[in-house]
Amino acid sequence: MSEDRAPIFAADAGSISAAAEILSNGGLVAFPTETVYGLGGDATNKAAIDNIYKAKGRPRTNPLIVHVKDTQAARSIVGFNETAEKLADAFWPGALTMVLERLDGKLCADVSAGLSTAAVRVPNHPVALALLEKADLPIAAPSANRAGRISPTAAGHVVFSLPGPDDTGLQMVLDGGPCQIGLESTVIDLTGATPALLRPGGLAVEDIEAVIGPLLMPSSNGPDNEAKKSPGMMDRHYAPELPLRLNAEHAGPGEVLLGFGVQAPAETMNLSPTGDLEEAAANLFAMIRSLDGPPFSAIAVMTIPETGLGRAINDRLRRATVSAGK
Ligand code: TXA
Ligand code: MG
Repeated sequence: MSEDRAPIFAADAGSISAAAEILSNGGLVAFPTETVYGLGGDATNKAAIDNIYKAKGRPRTNPLIVHVKDTQAARSIVGFNETAEKLADAFWPGALTMVLERLDGKLCADVSAGLSTAAVRVPNHPVALALLEKADLPIAAPSANRAGRISPTAAGHVVFSLPGPDDTGLQMVLDGGPCQIGLESTVIDLTGATPALLRPGGLAVEDIEAVIGPLLMPSSNGPDNEAKKSPGMMDRHYAPELPLRLNAEHAGPGEVLLGFGVQAPAETMNLSPTGDLEEAAANLFAMIRSLDGPPFSAIAVMTIPETGLGRAINDRLRRATVSAGK
């Protein structure tokens, strides 16, 4: 990989306008959302979409999320049904991505990796919304990291892993500070008879079920089976450099402990000293990054409860422990 890196700009009105211009011309811009930073490109422009896959090193079989400025814009690219209307009403703008049938001719086909469906969401972040408004385009934006690695929750994380303009047309990173939620959106498939969870994320499953009733859950057969339903849910994902050990009580030799709750030793880095799952989600990726290397040889993570955002936190931690090469 070359040494060139995209410049980071504070997200003010001037840099947001410049970013919208870059997008309209088929270039790429990384921008903050409330979940994680996205690597954005015009979802109707094949050259831009090709560059997103290339910049991430993402398999062309793994479709991208499309971001739109409001529900009306979503209705103009995918077929809405009653459940989608209810969910958009309840949770957009927000950390919910809905998979629906694509309408003909509205998006570059490569956005969906050959599927008849597209994943859409309205992000809840002032910079993302201003950019979508200004560019007035559907913006494809996967998380702004190399495929299989940890998602960025700050602007500096983006340039740490992605090559810049020479290689990929990524021309600027808009800096909107740390992401408030810190986990990727919850993805649900609304194309079947019953809505199905494809990826737990920054909106708790319990909150969705309170509006539309029970979701079909990913099969307990594990990631291999899920991968067939949601092309992006590949085995190894969210991987740090160091091995992770889950449900740890203490650090073993060479390990550093990542704590959770009041039981953690006082000197330990703690996802949330009070045991708050939203705080833990917001800290998860940045804390793992900060511990991910010498002098440590592994990261031992304490137990996180499997409720609310804990479900998404545990999903990311489990995927990060799948050994490379599988
Ligand atoms: O919070 C987020 O969702 C962030 C921010 C930037 O919005 N984006 C994000 O994108 O996490 P990405 O591309 O890293 O994850 C998108 C997920 C993948 O698991 C992908 O396979 C799935 O959504 N997906 C996209 N289109 C799909 C489709 N048509 N059918 C099923 N799954 C789809
Ligand atoms: Mg991703």
